[in-house]
Amino acid sequence: MLNFLIFWFFFSIFVLLVTIFMIFMEMYMLSENIEKALNDQLNREFFSSYYYLSMAAYFLSQNLKGFSHWMRIQAQEETIHALKIYDFIDDRDGEIDLNAMDTPPKAWDTPLDVFQDALKHEQKISNHIYELADLSLQEKDHATNTFLQWFIAEQVEEEATAKEMIDTLKLIGNDGSGLFLLDRDLVQRTLLASEADADPAGDM
Ligand SMILES: [Fe+2]
Ligand SMILES: [Fe+2]
Repeated sequence: MLNFLIFWFFFSIFVLLVTIFMIFMEMYMLSENIEKALNDQLNREFFSSYYYLSMAAYFLSQNLKGFSHWMRIQAQEETIHALKIYDFIDDRDGEIDLNAMDTPPKAWDTPLDVFQDALKHEQKISNHIYELADLSLQEKDHATNTFLQWFIAEQVEEEATAKEMIDTLKLIGNDGSGLFLLDRDLVQRTLLASEADADPAGDM
């Protein structure tokens, strides 16, 4: 009888510990929905990088080296965004799922067209991030929601920057010397320290 009670006591403790561990893991791990949505966003950030790199190549073909440099930095920032999500999925014991990339557009009529497309693209990305933030609230995944706040703030910056470039290019219009001067300014863009800090491995 005593043996049975001892066995029962230890068995109950074991069941209790397993239950606590499972509840903890459920709280800690990503749900399937969030994991999929984060992976979708991870792939979108990589596609953004690809898209901007294609824009950089277009500017090279137009002999606008400053614009091309600016877009290349933009592409690097997008890769850092993708890697932030990559690391977050791993930190939460999720599975990283990389997909094939679509082919980005490669020809535009004018620099203004390029930045108008960049703005449309950033607006789409912002909407996806808002949907992801909504999902994290629905699922009460506060860690993911907090993680996404950085991206929400970043999108405000991204859209504002594209709008600013559009306004400047509209002001320049067909003035070749204005375009030349802007191209000379854009060559000075560097990867922001805040972006570089977002790269945990520090190898971007
Ligand atoms: Fe991004
Ligand atoms: Fe972006």
